[in-house]
Amino acid sequence: MRVVSGIQPTGNLHLGNYLGAIRNWVRMQDALEPGSQCLFFLADLHAISQPHDPAELKRATLEMAAALVACGIDPARSILFNQAQVPAHAELQWLLNGTARMGWLNRMTQWKDKAGKNREGQSVALFAYPVLQAADVLLYQATHVPVGDDQKQHLELARDIAQKFNNDFGGGEEVFTLPEPIVPPEAARIMSLRDGSAKMSKSDPSDMSRINLVDDPDLVMQKVKKAKTDPEPLPSEAAGLVGRAEAINLVAVYGALSGESTDQVLARFGGQGFGAFKPALGELLVETLRPISARFRELLNDREELDAILARGSAKAREIGRPTLDATYVALGLVR
Ligand code: TYM
Repeated sequence: MRVVSGIQPTGNLHLGNYLGAIRNWVRMQDALEPGSQCLFFLADLHAISQPHDPAELKRATLEMAAALVACGIDPARSILFNQAQVPAHAELQWLLNGTARMGWLNRMTQWKDKAGKNREGQSVALFAYPVLQAADVLLYQATHVPVGDDQKQHLELARDIAQKFNNDFGGGEEVFTLPEPIVPPEAARIMSLRDGSAKMSKSDPSDMSRINLVDDPDLVMQKVKKAKTDPEPLPSEAAGLVGRAEAINLVAVYGALSGESTDQVLARFGGQGFGAFKPALGELLVETLRPISARFRELLNDREELDAILARGSAKAREIGRPTLDATYVALGLVR
C-alpha cells in the first residue's frame, strides 16, 4: 500500500481541508502496515498556476508544513516534503503531457470554475495543472489517495492518463499503478459558513466563510454564531433536514468532530434552535483546534527544523520516485 496526497500551500489550513483530507492522512499513517508508505507533500508547484507573491509562497510553504505536523503527520513515519525539491514531479508531468488529451483537461470542473469566462487570460499551468497532479501520484505508484470530494475528478483523470500510457507504451507491462481516491463519507465536502451551496475554500474572499485551524477561540465562536442558518429548529431525524443546506452542513461538521452520525446528533439537538446548537458546535470546534493550534505556534518558531524535515522528506521522495521516472523515459524511447 502506498498512500500519496498533497495540499496547496496557499492561505491557511481550514476545516474543510482538515476534515476532508488531513485527518484521513493521519489515520492512514497511524494504521500503516510495515512495508507500506505514506508520502504527503506541499503542492508548491501547483501554487504558481495562479498569480502569487514569491515571498508569501515561501512563508506559506513552511507554515503549511508546520500545520500538517501539528495535525498529526509524523515526519518520522510519513515522508513529508514539498514538490519543488523533487524535480521528478515536473519532469514526469512533461512526459505525461504527451498522453493527456486537451479534451480531458477541458472537462475539468476546477479549470472551468477557476478560469471562469476568461480562459484566454489564464496561465498554461492552470490548464495543465491536473497533469502535474497525475504525475504527483503516478511517480510513486500510489495505490491510495486520500482527498476531499472536489479532487475526485482529478484522480479519475490520473487513472485515465495511467491507463492510456500503459496501453500505448507499456508493451504489456504496467508502467503506472492506477490510484484509488479515498474520500471520507462524513466530510467529503464541508461547505462555506456563509453559503451552504459553496464549498469551504481558502479562495473565498470572506474569512467569515471558513474556520482556519489557527483561528483563536473567540474568533471561532464568532464565526459559528454568525454562520448562515434558517429560522427553523433542528429536526430530530436526518430526513427533516432536506432542503436546508446550511443546517445539513453544521450538523455534518458536528458529527464529523464528535464521531456521531447525523441521526445521533439530531437525537440530542432535535427540537432546539440554532441558539442552542451553535454554542455547542463552537465549543466542540475550539476543543478540537486547541491542541493543533498550540503545536502549530510552537513549530513555527523552529524554522530550521521545518527546513530539515522537508529536506529529509524530499531526499526520500526523490529516491522512491526514481525507478518510475527512469522507466517512463525508457518506455517513451527517450535516449539519456
Ligand atoms: P487543496 O489544497 O485545495 O485541498 C487539500 C485537500 O483538502 C480537501 N478539501 C476539502 N475537503 C472537504 N471539504 C472542503 N470544503 C474541502 N476543501 C478542500 C481537498 O479535496 C484536498 O484533498 N490539487 C490539490 C492538491 C494536490 C493533490 C495532488 C491532491 C496536488 N497534487 C495529488 C492529491 C494528490 C488541491 O488543490 O487541494
